[in-house]
Amino acid sequence: MPLVSTAELVSTAAAEHRGVAAFNVITLEHAEAIAAGAEQAGTPAILQISENAVRFHGGGLLAIAAAAAAVARASSAPLALHLDHVVSTGLLYAAADAGFGSAMFDASKLPYEENVRATADAVRWGHERGIWIEAELGRVGGKEGEAPLDAHAPGVRTDPAEAAAYAAATGVDALAVAVGSAHAMTERTAALDHALIARLRDAVPVPLVLHGSSGVPDDEIRAAVAAGMVKIHVGTALNSAFTGAVRSFLANGPGVVDPRKYLAPARDAMAATVAGFLGLLRPAG
Ligand code: G3H
Ligand code: ZN
Repeated sequence: MPLVSTAELVSTAAAEHRGVAAFNVITLEHAEAIAAGAEQAGTPAILQISENAVRFHGGGLLAIAAAAAAVARASSAPLALHLDHVVSTGLLYAAADAGFGSAMFDASKLPYEENVRATADAVRWGHERGIWIEAELGRVGGKEGEAPLDAHAPGVRTDPAEAAAYAAATGVDALAVAVGSAHAMTERTAALDHALIARLRDAVPVPLVLHGSSGVPDDEIRAAVAAGMVKIHVGTALNSAFTGAVRSFLANGPGVVDPRKYLAPARDAMAATVAGFLGLLRPAG
């Protein structure tokens, strides 16, 4: 089916008080697994490519974006394509010609006023081209290349009043907030601040985004969606599934040289992980 837009998936999910998941694409197998998992679960999903993944592909956005878009179009599930954690404006400006209907512009490391200025510019640029823009306020730690950030340290959480002012000043379409999750967790032990999520939901007029969801247990994700989270970002859980399957295949077959032998179970393991997360977001009943 044709690509759907992140805007449409997120606004429908928000209106129906449920979540929509966005999964990181690093390789072609990730994209195929996300499509397969969405088909298994019978739900839409978002395929997202981060600036880190673009860097892994030698700085080239077009090849991996075209591959992900082709996989999405060939799928029977409604799938959207999103550019994630964009720090460089050069990469943001490449989104329009690479088939993206949405991007997350990540100025969260900047002081508040600079974050507002840079994000407002990104939103203006996006809206002139029909591109939906997400931003981040507060800092969800654990991003590649950054010193670890304690998700529970004071000042790390997003303040509701500041978030409301930020949304008004930037015109952003969705807001990633810091509520106790952290990126790149390989154990699902994060405890979220559900009261804060509800206060943010009441204060902020745009859908809220939960980053670092790989480390969040099933019940916490369900409760976060019930409290007001809409877009749920998952990356590391797919990589854990991928690498676990490759590791166990190669441990039992040290003579294997054909990558298809171990990439097939790795892709299946990621698809099962995707279906598992999407199952949490299916409306009850
Ligand atoms: O934007 C991407 C996500 O926040 C992924 O985080 O790798 O910890 O699941 P994760
Ligand atoms: Zn993230």
